[in-house]
Amino acid sequence: MTPKPKITKKPKKSINVGIIGLGAYLPSKVMTNLDLEKLVDTSDEWIRTRTGISERRIACKEEMTSDLAANAARMAIKNAKLEPADIDLIILATITPDMLFPATSCFVQAKLGAVNAACFDINAACSGFIHELTIAQQFIESGMYKNILVIGAELLSRFVDWKDRSTCVLFGDGAGAAVIAPVKRGGLLSSYIGADGTKSRLLMFPAGGSVTPASHETVTQGLHFLKMEGNEVFKNAVRVMTNASAQALSRAGLTTEDIDCVIPHQANIRIIEAVIQRVGIPAEKVFVNVEKYGNMSAASAIVALFEAVKEGRVKKGDKVLMVAFGSGFVWGSCVIEW
Ligand code: UT7
Repeated sequence: MTPKPKITKKPKKSINVGIIGLGAYLPSKVMTNLDLEKLVDTSDEWIRTRTGISERRIACKEEMTSDLAANAARMAIKNAKLEPADIDLIILATITPDMLFPATSCFVQAKLGAVNAACFDINAACSGFIHELTIAQQFIESGMYKNILVIGAELLSRFVDWKDRSTCVLFGDGAGAAVIAPVKRGGLLSSYIGADGTKSRLLMFPAGGSVTPASHETVTQGLHFLKMEGNEVFKNAVRVMTNASAQALSRAGLTTEDIDCVIPHQANIRIIEAVIQRVGIPAEKVFVNVEKYGNMSAASAIVALFEAVKEGRVKKGDKVLMVAFGSGFVWGSCVIEW
């Protein structure tokens, strides 16, 4: 019998994976709470006190999700000092794609001229960016790809019911992008993702899929619009984001004191306040921009990181805790050393 060849495990070379370029695109049209007062039975006071939102951006008629994505991506690629042809993979996170298929990332690839990039979309709702970072890290550590463009892009204004005051005041349009690549030091120190599919019906587009295909009836009943049990989502968001924050910290071997900036998903200021109070992080360490953009689902976290860096709230060497929660339910958290 021929002896089996001895398998010697190669020691895993640890590669640091980090963000080498960030970009954002926010449509220029601003819709304020006062504008919304003219559309539905609401008030600026209710929206600000219950959500922290003052205004949100609305894409123009000609803009599609892939346009918002491509604009943010161009900036990220430029900031990474790369060309579109240097990108090996595009991952796009969205719940508001150009079409059910093909993948919106393919439209973005064509718009960028990123001819060498493989493409796929993910649906991880508001946690899209953390899921993307986690996926990108695997591809880079395995040596398969070097430069990965991750994008969160949403055009929620086309998917909310402008007659439903309980949802239409909450959301906005926008996109953020990041180039992920090997870095010399720092980068992603930990990440954690999870899901609870038993709660999937608390936040969804009920019609337009295989369960309830689009029909005259579904349109008449408005079932193609976003539906949410706000209260339940709120409670789950606070509980899950608190736990997820602790997970990312312990996986990185860090405590709250080591964290310089927290970038939570931007859905509601009350959720953010409840989470950071439970995690035990002072409010001044938390970056918030929900007042300007509302909830942009997958775009929120990247746009917030982009702005935090631009405003000097995140500096070289800082440790950043990111945490997000969304429809699915899905969630994710990570610690990045900038
Ligand atoms: O990204 C993850 C997904 N999204 C979220 O994380 C959002 C989670 N949920 C929330 O942020 C909050 O639940 C909402 C902001 C959606 C609602 O806040 P709430 O404090 O949970 O309000 P509520 O749903 O309990 O409603 C309180 C009252 C109701 O009136 P009644 O029944 O007490 O008479 C609503 O009809 O507020 C009323 N209401 C409004 N009033 C004025 C609901 N929406 C509005 C509105 N303007 N836009």
